[in-house]
Amino acid sequence: MNILDNAVKFTPSGGKISISAVQDDSGFVVVKVTDTGIGIQKSEIPRLGERFYRADKTRSRELGGTGLGLSIVKHLMKAHNGSIDIESQVGKGTTVSLSFPINRVPKA
Ligand SMILES: Nc1ncnc2c1ncn2[C@@H]1O[C@H](COP(=O)(O)OP(=O)(O)OP(=O)(O)O)[C@@H](O)[C@H]1O
Ligand SMILES: [Mg+2]
Repeated sequence: MNILDNAVKFTPSGGKISISAVQDDSGFVVVKVTDTGIGIQKSEIPRLGERFYRADKTRSRELGGTGLGLSIVKHLMKAHNGSIDIESQVGKGTTVSLSFPINRVPKA
């Protein structure tokens, strides 16, 4: 929900948001959410999983949000033995990929 909420929040009206799910060759189902929104600076991407971190303070203040969503997503993906990957280009858009293992490995 947070990934979709972000896609909608950071894409101006008239943009496009798409979602897909594909099984890759290494035993993962990859859910991708792509938007044609404002994008994120490359240097900010590594920090997005930090609690309360929001890229571009002025812009985030206008759009609201606490900056907790991606940190929670990161923890949830870890709990699934999966991972999150973010690719983005400023002014072009963002793709968030969530990789879920097909075989659930019970936690020790
Ligand atoms: N699809 C996106 N396009 C552009 N920027 C994004 C996108 N997704 C996340 N961001 C940037 O990453 C920051 C962190 O996202 P996160 O979901 O953690 O927080 P938030 O949406 O601001 O607040 P919350 O999810 O807690 O309501 C956002 O504030 C925004 O700057
Ligand atoms: Mg969010």
